[in-house]
Parts: sequence; structure tokens; C-alpha cells
Amino acid sequence: MDLPSPLGTFHPPNISPDSEDGIGRWRTIDLANALLAGISPDRQHYYPAFPYTSYAHMRLSDVKDLMAYLRTLPPVKGHAPAHDLPFPFTIRRLIGGWKLLFLDQTVIEDDPARDPAWNRGRYLAEGVGHCAECHSARNLAQSIRHGTRFAGGSDQSGVGYVPNITPTGIGRWTRDDIAEALHSGRTPEQRQIGSTMADVVTNLSALPDSDRRAIATYLLSLPRRHSTDE
Ligand code: HEC
Repeated sequence: MDLPSPLGTFHPPNISPDSEDGIGRWRTIDLANALLAGISPDRQHYYPAFPYTSYAHMRLSDVKDLMAYLRTLPPVKGHAPAHDLPFPFTIRRLIGGWKLLFLDQTVIEDDPARDPAWNRGRYLAEGVGHCAECHSARNLAQSIRHGTRFAGGSDQSGVGYVPNITPTGIGRWTRDDIAEALHSGRTPEQRQIGSTMADVVTNLSALPDSDRRAIATYLLSLPRRHSTDE
């Protein structure tokens, strides 16, 4: 597939368990290094178009479970083409410096002052769900612009705008409305959510309803934010 971005077009690699073309030879530690540190088994930096800036907050036990799941998928042959990037973005070593500035690897621990649904929602939305990676504005270094997290921003493909999902944008929706939108893609105004969110909804619809409601609880608890990209 193509993943257009302001830097160029990325082609996400084969992550099926094929031992030649995919990740069939990876150990769990290799997946952990990729998701939590953005480092490949041959010690190269991944581009943050692979949203490890969010995955880095995942718990190791979930990475282990994810590896167990990926190993059950059918192996698929074939390599994605090379990324289509202009110089100097072809130099992966530069990503090391970017990470020093912008990669936060803090694992999301439960906040005992909050209820379990909020904690679950925060973990899903901030970590593995990587919602803010699309629903925020970015600075020139392509890092999420402070204060715009979840407040929407230009679509990374260069076309369109990703909506504000803090209470500024969807504060009039109830928790049930949000959980329903994440399940069926239907908004309270009976609009069908599309674009890149259609795939996200397909994936979220496989979650238990309690997880979608937990995400809704977390989103409704966010401070009202406005995006600088509007
Ligand atoms: C790959 C990018 C991407 C990711 C990741 C993503 N979204 Fe979205 N989201 C979008 C886009 C684009 C739209 C607008 C779709 C449209 O206009 O039809 C959208 C729309 C929405 C809407 C509807 C808002 C409205 O006002 O209509 C909600 C709610 C939402 N997303 C929640 C989430 C949550 C929660 C997550 C994380 C679990 C998430 N999104 C992850 C791109 C993304």
C-alpha cells in the first residue's frame, strides 16, 4: 500500500510470518524493539511514519500477545517497494537525532485516581490505537505540535483535514454516540465516517464494546483543544 506524507510516500513492509519476505524469523524481542524503540532487527531506525511514537507506550505483555497473534496469520510472499523519499530523508541515521528529541518511551501505567474505564481508554487511545498520530497537527520536524493532540490537523496525505476529537469537536456526542461511531462508523448526525478512518473503524469494531466505551470515556475527559492547523 501507499502511505503518502509531507516527506514522500512510504510503502509499509510485509509483516506476515513469511520467513523470507515477512517477519517469520523475528523473535518477540525483535517486535518489542520495533514497536517500543523504532529499531529493526538489523539495527536500523524506522521512520516514524510507522507510529512507534505511540506504540512505545505499550506494555511488554501486549507486545508478546501481539507476536503470538501475528504468528497465526498466513505467510504472504512479496516485498513492498522501497520508500519514495527525497534526499536527505533517505538517510536513516538522521532519525536517531529526531528520536532523541521526540520519542517518549514511557509505558502508560494506570492512574489509581481514575476509574478502570478511563485508564483502559487512555491506554488504547494513546498507545496501540495511536489515534493522536492522525488527529493532531505537526510541526516542521513532523512531530505532533504541542497542544494540538487529538485536536485535529491536516491529513498527512496532503488532502483534507482530520477532525478534532477533543470535546471541542465531539463534546456534544454522548459516550454511547462515540462508542457507536467507533463500531459502525455512523455519527449522531447519521454521517458515515470514511477516509482512512474507515479502516480504523473496521479494526475497532472487532474490540469488545467495553473497549470502545473506554476510549469514548477517555476522549470526553480530554481538555478542550483547538488545532493550530485549522
Ligand atoms: C490513519 C489516521 C487515523 C487514525 C489512526 C485514527 N483516525 Fe479517527 N479519523 C481519521 C479521519 C481522516 C477522520 C475523518 C473521516 C471522515 O471525515 O469521514 C476521522 C474521524 C474520526 C471520528 C469522527 C469525528 C467527527 O467529527 O466526525 C472519530 C470519533 C475518530 N476519528 C476517532 C478516532 C479514534 C478514537 C482513534 C484511535 C482509536 C482514531 N480516530 C484513529 C483518521 C484517523
